[in-house]
Amino acid sequence: MEKHKMLELVNLKSGYGGSEILHGLNLSVANQEIVSIIGPNGCGKSTLLRSVMGMTPWSTGGVRFKGSDILGLESSKVVATGIGYVPQLENVFAGMTVMENLQIGGYLLPAGERRDQIARMLDLFPQFKSRKSQAAGTMSGGERQSLALAMAIMTSPELILLDEPSAGLSPKATDEMYANVLLLQEQLGMSVLIVEQDVHGVLEITHRTYVLKMGENDFDAPSKDVLNDDRIRSAYLGNVQSAGIETKQEAATH
Ligand SMILES: Nc1ncnc2c1ncn2[C@@H]1O[C@H](COP(=O)(O)OP(=O)(O)O)[C@@H](O)[C@H]1O
Ligand SMILES: [Mg+2]
Repeated sequence: MEKHKMLELVNLKSGYGGSEILHGLNLSVANQEIVSIIGPNGCGKSTLLRSVMGMTPWSTGGVRFKGSDILGLESSKVVATGIGYVPQLENVFAGMTVMENLQIGGYLLPAGERRDQIARMLDLFPQFKSRKSQAAGTMSGGERQSLALAMAIMTSPELILLDEPSAGLSPKATDEMYANVLLLQEQLGMSVLIVEQDVHGVLEITHRTYVLKMGENDFDAPSKDVLNDDRIRSAYLGNVQSAGIETKQEAATH
């Protein structure tokens, strides 16, 4: 049986003022699927996530979440339907403490539930337990990304959108971020849509990948096939020898 569709974009067009950036995109994310979006700088990856979140000046086409059309809803309503979002830049409040950032992540929740969720986040990310009153801006890049992720899952979303979570991180912090992404799916049952520049790393942790080209679909395929696709190897991976590379998702099916 086909897996239940969590998110479905049908002929999505979107842009800023008079300029159309997305020219009719199609994309889907199944229940508990981890899907990546890759493509050159400026091709519209962030705009795609912003369109889903109701953050672009205009969008047309179909944006369906669990079968309901959410296009045109304002961002807080989109969050309330069950979608979490970690933007590419400025995704924590640098001058505020870890605790205050978590409270902001859960501002839609009743106070009691917000408290319970903060306790859950401190269990999931124990590194924050002793640093509740540290200003977010004084933490490392990896810690800030973890905090941004914790903020976005305060509302227990069923789908989470991540915009280049590895940007600016060390290889070690990138691995930790990806481990967190797998944890969201494996332990919390979430679906994940992740935009990345770190093509090699993201293809290893995702099930399926969409390649965009100037605001349009180029192609999509299981991530393990994208890793071995000549178009991708020459454009993104510097033609690395990928034969014999086993992805983490493949390994998990053995
Ligand atoms: N706020 C904005 N106003 C006008 N144009 C924008 C804005 N944000 C992005 N763009 C343009 O939209 C295009 C796609 O940008 P973006 O979605 O950020 O690409 P990507 O995330 O793939 O690098 C680029 O040409 C960019 O200049
Ligand atoms: Mg971007």
